[in-house]
Amino acid sequence: MSIDKASSAEISGAASVTAKQRQMVERALREWRGELEGRVAVVTGGARGIGRSMCEGLIRAGAKVVAADKSWDGAEDFRKQLEADQGLAVEVDITDDAQLDAAYAAVMDRFGTVDILVNNAALVSETLFAPTGHRTTLDTTDRDWKVMFGVNVFGTLKVIRRFIQPMQEKKRGSIINVVSSGVLTAAAGGGYHGLRPWTVEMPYQATKAAVTALTFYLAEEVRGDGVAVNAIMPGHTRASWFDATARAFNDIGVVYFMRPAISEHLLPITLFLSAQHAVGVAGRLYYVPEWNYDHGYGDHAAWLDHELPPDMEEMYSRLEAATPTYERSGVPHLPFDAQGALYTAALASLGSQENWAGGSTQ
Ligand SMILES: NC(=O)c1ccc[n+]([C@@H]2O[C@H](COP(=O)([O-])OP(=O)(O)OC[C@H]3O[C@@H](n4cnc5c(N)ncnc54)[C@H](O)[C@@H]3O)[C@@H](O)[C@H]2O)c1
Repeated sequence: MSIDKASSAEISGAASVTAKQRQMVERALREWRGELEGRVAVVTGGARGIGRSMCEGLIRAGAKVVAADKSWDGAEDFRKQLEADQGLAVEVDITDDAQLDAAYAAVMDRFGTVDILVNNAALVSETLFAPTGHRTTLDTTDRDWKVMFGVNVFGTLKVIRRFIQPMQEKKRGSIINVVSSGVLTAAAGGGYHGLRPWTVEMPYQATKAAVTALTFYLAEEVRGDGVAVNAIMPGHTRASWFDATARAFNDIGVVYFMRPAISEHLLPITLFLSAQHAVGVAGRLYYVPEWNYDHGYGDHAAWLDHELPPDMEEMYSRLEAATPTYERSGVPHLPFDAQGALYTAALASLGSQENWAGGSTQ
């Protein structure tokens, strides 16, 4: 264990990180291409953020990819690229039954089956309450809860009901639900407590808890049909909303939590779980940074984003210079309360702690 002042960029060797990240992605593609070649993968929320990155990875692994999203605004180039790669871009709001029926028919018409479903589409706190995402539970309205449960829970369920059908028919398939570490509990010798309730994320985390429970129960129910259902918790990742949120916090003198990971850090586990069916891994919930470390895909620092726009690079470099470091062998990603403590220490040293009402690590 060591505690001293140094930037995490220095620790992880920022200059070499991008090349290392590329190597890890290539390794993952080599490892699972054989299993995924020709399989049909549907990714909801696939136009941008984490979903887009998953689509790009699955295409590179040889899958036929359907990216389903409510909005393709600003993602026209990706749409063209997807279609050039023999994929399908579908415009669909997952809360709308008629649109989902049409989307399912379009996928079946084009590819005749579905092998992999990634339930990634969601509203996050930062998009429901854009740009900062912070709203305490008592400040939320019933409508906020209805809107978020509509997309994240009922939308996910509606998608599963349809796209699982070909998997059940052929007794083979994989479903991956994208949830969040904010649903976890931990025990410190006695009763369980929330892993990080200081991140101020209601009703978002309530929806992710619902999908986590759904994952475990559905996995058990469809195991006999050959369908593997698993869930993943991405960790703090630079998705489509991230820069606007970070800049809004910067305007009130706060650095928005710690440097995010690039979305490609989800690729190895996405390919691994996509290749599962019920004779493989099912009914599991993985935290992506821990899974990566345990499978030789680098620790948390190995996937951090060192190609931020200059203004954001300045924010995170400033924060890192003020952050005490704490390392422990076998702990690739620090426990959340330790992260929270280091983060608040850094904010205090930058003189901005009083502007911070909790944090967010998604
Ligand atoms: N980025 C993170 O740090 C992080 C951390 C933990 C979990 N997650 C989860 O990762 C997943 C992807 O989120 P992201 O961070 O990439 O966000 P994002 O906003 O960049 O992407 C979400 C996508 O879902 C789409 N979408 C939203 N509502 C929809 C609807 N009704 N129908 C169809 N599509 C819809 C959006 O258009 C968008 O393209 C989510 O499930 C989120 O909860 C993200």
